[in-house]
Amino acid sequence: MKKPKKVLGIDIGGSGVKGAIVNTKSGKLKTKRFRIPTPQPATPEAIAGVIKKIAAHFKWDGLIGVGYPGVVQKGIVKTSANVDDSWIGTDIEKLLSDATHCPVHILNDADAAGYGEIKFGAGKGEVGSVLLITVGTGLGTVLFVHGKLVPNLEMGHLILHGDDAEKYASDAIRESEGLDWGVWAKRVNEYLCRIEELTWPDLIIIGGGVSKEGEKVFSHLKTRAKLVPAALQNEAGIIGAALAAKANFKS
Ligand code: BGC
Repeated sequence: MKKPKKVLGIDIGGSGVKGAIVNTKSGKLKTKRFRIPTPQPATPEAIAGVIKKIAAHFKWDGLIGVGYPGVVQKGIVKTSANVDDSWIGTDIEKLLSDATHCPVHILNDADAAGYGEIKFGAGKGEVGSVLLITVGTGLGTVLFVHGKLVPNLEMGHLILHGDDAEKYASDAIRESEGLDWGVWAKRVNEYLCRIEELTWPDLIIIGGGVSKEGEKVFSHLKTRAKLVPAALQNEAGIIGAALAAKANFKS
């Protein structure tokens, strides 16, 4: 079997699980996104049920790529910051292929978004080191060096003001603490400057919902490296999960 051109990309997020069929040649969505709110508690069984519904919605029987919001190594979940702790140790590829009867490839959600942005978005053609930060329920961090991914970089858990940085500067914190955009953007900038001191990227891409908020956020972000919003915005995770699944597909 040839590598498929169309792949169902799925992004498991803290508030929603989103999927769409992706044309992996063009990096464009072939369908509208279909979103189901993340069940609470977000256990492996509950999320598997949601992913089964998403595959059924698209009447899908082909390859699926999934971004999971934590560390995944060789198909096994290692961390679970924003989903249920019972994920740890789960063979997520097996769980989801049993649920959907489709071949499934898994990777970290931010790594997936990174693939999307490097291949078709704001990192396209960049030869140096590119740092992508996804700002959502958590803070996802991704480093590409000369186009190669350094997987499972977990800088959202860097300690800032005595706790995980994502407890200080994520979008979920902006909402729960009712911070205005300017106050919150300054927190994000403090975080960016800290990571920049440790990684020295050539380009920083900001992804997640904030990438479309424009000047009310970006006017507060001042980094040494060039800084740009993600071009694929909220679709990067879906597109990148599909690209990664195709790249790893073995017939
Ligand atoms: C997780 C990362 C994930 C990020 C965004 C963090 O809490 O540890 O693995 O990429 O949230 O979902």
